[in-house]
Amino acid sequence: MPTPHPRPYASVLDTIGQTPLIQLGRVGAGIRTPVYGKAEYANPGGSVKDRIGLAIIEAAERDGTLKPGGTIVEGTSGNTGVGLAIAAALKGYRCIFTMPDKMSQEKVRLLKAYGAEVVITPTAVPPDHPENYVMKAKQITHDTPGAILANQFYNQVNPEAHVATTGPEIWEQTSGKVTHFVAGAGTGGTVSGVAKYLKAQNPAIVVIAGDPIGSLYTEYHRTRITGTNGAPYKVEGIGGDKAPTTVWWDLIDEFRQVSDRDAMAMARRLAREEGILVGASAGVNVHLALELARTLDDPNACVVTILCDTGERYLSKVFNDEWLQENQLLEAPRRTVRDLLARRQGEAPSLVQVAPAAAVRQALNLMNTWNVSQLPVLDGDRCVGALVEGALMQIALDQPALLDRPVREVMDPPLPEVEAGWGVERVAPLLTRETPAALVRDGGALVGIVSRYDLLQVMIAR
Ligand SMILES: Cc1ncc(COP(=O)(O)O)c(C=O)c1O
Repeated sequence: MPTPHPRPYASVLDTIGQTPLIQLGRVGAGIRTPVYGKAEYANPGGSVKDRIGLAIIEAAERDGTLKPGGTIVEGTSGNTGVGLAIAAALKGYRCIFTMPDKMSQEKVRLLKAYGAEVVITPTAVPPDHPENYVMKAKQITHDTPGAILANQFYNQVNPEAHVATTGPEIWEQTSGKVTHFVAGAGTGGTVSGVAKYLKAQNPAIVVIAGDPIGSLYTEYHRTRITGTNGAPYKVEGIGGDKAPTTVWWDLIDEFRQVSDRDAMAMARRLAREEGILVGASAGVNVHLALELARTLDDPNACVVTILCDTGERYLSKVFNDEWLQENQLLEAPRRTVRDLLARRQGEAPSLVQVAPAAAVRQALNLMNTWNVSQLPVLDGDRCVGALVEGALMQIALDQPALLDRPVREVMDPPLPEVEAGWGVERVAPLLTRETPAALVRDGGALVGIVSRYDLLQVMIAR
């Protein structure tokens, strides 16, 4: 196999782009349509934004707005900052970045590591507020001699960088077989630029943009009206509350929304199942790409998506259980009836039961011995009735003669049955004051009983 890097590079700038395309066969197991992720985290700055950082600086040099010793200013959630900072470091420019305070601390430190200056602004201000990070960047550009605003949300060099590089790479790496492209839109540069290139090769290629729930892009794409009912979300780097001109809206066939919870869960699965550590925007992309692939159910289709940036940037968030829990983003581990029975091992036999012909006295004795308040009446493997302690005691007190009668004469209707593999949440609605327990079958055999009390124990233990 020829080495992909046969000769040394003149500088790190020459190593931007030409990222690998990787099949996501583990998270996509069982789905017939192949799904590939473009490993943009493999860029030297760890994200897709290295591509536009370099392109924007070189375009400004060409058009004369950026001169030696000049300053590059940008409102950036981090990754564009890194892309710009890398190119600026090699070319000798100063960088000043503004960033909303919801962004990871890691991202701030990272920009400073490349020698950039960072100005933090409040997240919770309207887009036209002077303290909004984009407005702040404009002000700094205005106040700093020799400064240019990279302007990633309006600078057409951004999507054009993807027309020139990301799009052709995907076309080539799939030998022109790509049929669907999925990518979340932040500035929209990636999804738009790739869409333009791919559709020029094959107009049938479908392009879907991912969007976090709470962003206004999906609604804007449908109505061309900028809504006002956006909501906060935790996925970083994509979505928005304006309509940037770097999204080429007409080239995108559809916007689809993904919840923070699904995005984070997929980012975590990618690390554990594919060994690919990426942020939650890649989680959005892969979640959508797999959903699409499943629906297509076509081995001849080819879905490509973007693995936007490295997950090392989110170790204190996406990969931190406490943070996920605080934000109600952690899936509670699914507890099954089987787990519940296992918790009880070592106590009473898992199924205390009585035969229909046994005497009521015997049933009361069993309840007393094992401290259970309900008893299934089993005829072989079949539940034919049930005894509930309170009611049975009342009968015995009212009519002591019944103590020696068979339980079949006094029993209540049989208990419902559940499967051991069911989640406990599925059992809860079946259990009522009148039906306080259910029998559990595992592989066809009766293996135990779960009561309202047992369920409550696991629910309060979480
Ligand atoms: C982590 C992350 N993912 C995805 C994107 C989206 O890329 P684009 O701005 O090209 O739409 C960004 C953009 O800032 C990002 O930071």
